[in-house]
Amino acid sequence: MSAHLIPSRRGLPADDPIFALHAEALALAATGRPVLDATVGALLDEAGQLVVLESIMGLWRQLTALEVAPYAPIAGDPAYLRALVQRHWPRLPGAGSACATPGGGGALSLSLRMFLEPGQAVLTAGPCWAAYPTIAAEGGVRLATAPWPAAGAPLDAAAWRASAEALLASQGRLLVWFNDPCHNPTGRSLAPADRAALAALLTDLAERGPVTLLLDLAYPDYARDPSEVAAALADYERLGEAGRVLVGGALSLSKAFTLYGARAGALAFPWCQDRDLQAALVTAARGLWSNCARAPQSVVLRLLRDGKAQAHLAAEHRHWSEILEDRALALDAALEAEGLAAAPWQGGFFVTLALDDSAGICARLKAEGVFAVPVQGGLRVGICGLRAADAPRFAQALRRVLEG
Ligand SMILES: Cc1ncc(COP(=O)(O)O)c(C=O)c1O
Repeated sequence: MSAHLIPSRRGLPADDPIFALHAEALALAATGRPVLDATVGALLDEAGQLVVLESIMGLWRQLTALEVAPYAPIAGDPAYLRALVQRHWPRLPGAGSACATPGGGGALSLSLRMFLEPGQAVLTAGPCWAAYPTIAAEGGVRLATAPWPAAGAPLDAAAWRASAEALLASQGRLLVWFNDPCHNPTGRSLAPADRAALAALLTDLAERGPVTLLLDLAYPDYARDPSEVAAALADYERLGEAGRVLVGGALSLSKAFTLYGARAGALAFPWCQDRDLQAALVTAARGLWSNCARAPQSVVLRLLRDGKAQAHLAAEHRHWSEILEDRALALDAALEAEGLAAAPWQGGFFVTLALDDSAGICARLKAEGVFAVPVQGGLRVGICGLRAADAPRFAQALRRVLEG
């Protein structure tokens, strides 16, 4: 049958690499072997079951037929878009130029069609979420990276400048995807001084051509210190307000509401009310997926009217952030007990252990029944699925593998 496929679509991997590793872990567990699966990208409770936020499911169960069945507007319900933006920037009166998308992934894809010509490159921090290269390739562009800072080290502003300048010079435009705060895969956020350096750099480059900074805000509800998240978002708000760099958000309800399967999100440019940008967003959405799902938008509209559900959701986010922090601390303690370096966590579902040859280590860990994801410069450990009680076994297996 592959003769039917055009040549450029042949020979692609059959599954996303992370889902493939997870499937291997499940297959091994099914044989009765004790397995530690730290590949998962969804929040699991202490019994290994998917966490579903009760505040959100309570609202979902109340939905009536007319809150589920009709088409939503192609751009998304305006109150939904405003609410998604105000979750991050509560002072803003509206969503600006914005469009509903199937999750944050949909928002990232849509952004490529707005700001890059085919064959150009989007710049992001490496390591990055493993889907970025696929999203870029499917959008007909390349993915260029500049380094995310190592733990305790400052941002390599010179490397960022060099990469950004080169792209701007060759393309006449620059699009940056930036997963801050609560970065996947490192679990860290940029330090305030680094954020200031990046903002200054992009502002400076915006003199030479259009510069767009798209913040990938998948995890900010799960943070060790919510005030750090608020400060980061306030920094980006100042950059957006200044108006030299076009600042936007790839917003998602997947993690925020544990509505992964509802495929809800938005691509929003809250400091830009531009007719052409709005028309471009809606036209591309129409051509790609038409309308997004109505039900999750209706849940957001119900949440807006329900102060009790809002308080419940905030309490659930706090509770699970504390569990994630416990797991991160337990992992650090276990790693240190084995003489290995800790991996400080600030937010999100993962930490990355800085290691060379992470692909080789990943392969040897599998023989120990331990699964984690190799990323550029290290091994991604999903603390969203790794209980604190399992941290010692994880660290012991890693030490044995490293001692080889
Ligand atoms: C960094 C990052 N961005 C965006 C997403 C998008 O998720 P979704 O498309 O489900 O909203 C994810 C999901 O894993 C992610 O890790």
